[in-house]
This record gives sequence, C-alpha cells and structure tokens, in this order.
Amino acid sequence: MAEFKVVAVIGAGQMGSGIAQLAAVAGSDVWLLDKDAGALHGAKGSISNSVQRFVNKGQLSKEVGIKALERLKYTSNLEDLRYADIVIEAIVESEDVKKKLFAELDKIVKGSAILASNTSSISITRLATATKRPQQVIGMHFMNPPPIMKLVEIIRGADTSDETFTATKTLAERFGKTVVCSRDYAGFIVNRILMPMINEAFHALYTGVATKEDIDAGMKLGTNQPMGPLELADFIGLDVCLSILKVLHSGLGDVKYAPCPLLVQYVDAGRLGRKRGIGVYSYVKSPKQSSR
Ligand code: NAI
Repeated sequence: MAEFKVVAVIGAGQMGSGIAQLAAVAGSDVWLLDKDAGALHGAKGSISNSVQRFVNKGQLSKEVGIKALERLKYTSNLEDLRYADIVIEAIVESEDVKKKLFAELDKIVKGSAILASNTSSISITRLATATKRPQQVIGMHFMNPPPIMKLVEIIRGADTSDETFTATKTLAERFGKTVVCSRDYAGFIVNRILMPMINEAFHALYTGVATKEDIDAGMKLGTNQPMGPLELADFIGLDVCLSILKVLHSGLGDVKYAPCPLLVQYVDAGRLGRKRGIGVYSYVKSPKQSSR
C-alpha cells in the first residue's frame, strides 16, 4: 500500500490550497505548484490563516499546525514534483489544459505515482489517455472548501486499477473524509444533481420569476440548505459552474443542461463570483449588496 510520503498538488486556487493543507496536516511532505507566483503567495497566506483558525477552535494542536506549515513547499517548477507519490491536479476546468498537464507529468513523476484529478465533471477516462499509466489515473473530487467539507467523490476511469482505487480511498480517509464512488459519467454524482439546480436558479432570475434574494431565501429556508443556489454559485465560481454545465450538456446530450444565457453573460463580463468580488452579488462593499 502506498504511503504517500510526498503529495503534490497543482493549482493553488481555492481548491488546491485547501487540498495541500489537508495533506500537510495528515503528515505528508507537500509540494504546491502554480504557474502564477501571485496565486502561490495568496495560497501561503490563506493556508496559514486556515490552519490558525483550526488551532483557535481547538480542532488542531498548535504543534501539528506548525509542523503542517513547515511541510509545505511552494513552486512553479514541475520538475520539483518528480518524487511525489501522488499528484492531485486542481487547475482550470478545461479538458485540453488538464490533458496537456497530465502528459507532461507522466514524463516527470516516478512510474509508481498516482495521477489524480480534482475535476468537477471532466471524464477521467479521457484524461488518462494523455498518459502511459491509465491504470494509475483517478478522479479525487473534493468539495469546497476542502478542509471543512466531509466528502470526497472518487471516480474510476475505464482502466483505473483496484490498487489505485484502494490507495486513493485510503488517502482520502486519512484526510478525515467520507468517500463515495462514482462511475465516470459527466458531472459524477454531486454536480450531476447540483448544477441543474444552480442553472434553474439562474433561469428563474433571468425570466424574472423572483429577485436573487428571494430565490436564495426560498431555497435556503424552503429546502433547508445552508446557502441559496445563486449564493453557492458565487462561492463555487461562475466560470467553474459554466464549465461544468458545458461538460454535462455535451457529455449527456440533453438540452436541459444547456447553460442559462444569464450565467454565460456574467462570465463574459468577468463576474466570476466571490473570487473576483462580483458575481450574482457584489462582495466589494457589503456581502448582500445588489449588483444588478
Ligand atoms: P481557481 O481558479 O481558484 O484556481 C485554479 C488555479 O490553477 C489558479 O491559481 C491558476 O493559476 C492555476 N492554473 C491554471 N492552469 C494551470 C497550469 N497549467 N499549471 C499550473 N497552474 C495552473 O479554481 P478552483 O475553484 O480551485 O478549481 C480548480 C479545479 O477544481 C477545477 O477543475 C474545478 O472544476 C475543481 N473544483 C472546483 C470546486 C469549486 O467549488 N470551485 C469544487 C470542486 C472541484
């Protein structure tokens, strides 16, 4: 059974930084890679703040927190990942970009290493074709934010081996997560069901059924969800939601998954959600301030 002494995470955005934190707290040496030095800088600050919050709440000892931060190394050089036992990719949700990365990684990392993708919706089977180790390619889909959310969806591609599946499941459990296993169809379990709801909320806003506040309050209080669907879309990232809907639409071939024109327009306008300070809502002055 793989020990995962060295874990590499690629993409230091909201997901990758959280996954790197989990791996460091669980005792692995961690490389966090991003092509953008600013993203690495931001991740270092956000991981440190997040670890501190866990320590303040008594959910982590100060000693474990300090050691976890010491185990994290930041880089923009793929060669630094060559000794990784597993690489977890959390870059932009684009099949072409992820495939290019997997092809490069396949040449750099050791033969026994697992290549995992945190993709929200893209076929693991197709990502695996970019490598010469399809039996060691797997989907490891964390929820946002990774240090807090309890679930990891594991997706086996057509050629993923039992050994890779068992090792990846063991690692997710070491991170304190509950695992569900999905077959490799667009959107897997969670986004197959969540994204049509978010898309429908955009349609309700687009066609004037109600205000964004009432749509969110209706779903929060009416169906007992912690966040309304529009608020959640801002949290996930409207660009990420749009990419997932496009994958569902093309992968499952049903018009019901076609992205709402209002979602497309927001993304075109650069209104990507919380990470940009504006999405359905504006986060610049007041979290609930209207932006329409
Ligand atoms: P993000 O936009 O916050 O971060 C992506 C990071 O990847 C950026 O820092 C960017 O500089 C970096 N990057 C892009 N291309 C790269 C490359 N070729 N090499 C190195 N670094 C590269 O995105 P986020 O939200 O963290 O999503 C990342 C992945 O996780 C996507 O596949 C997304 O679908 C998936 N995901 C997102 C969730 C969410 O709620 N946002 C939830 C679960 C999965």
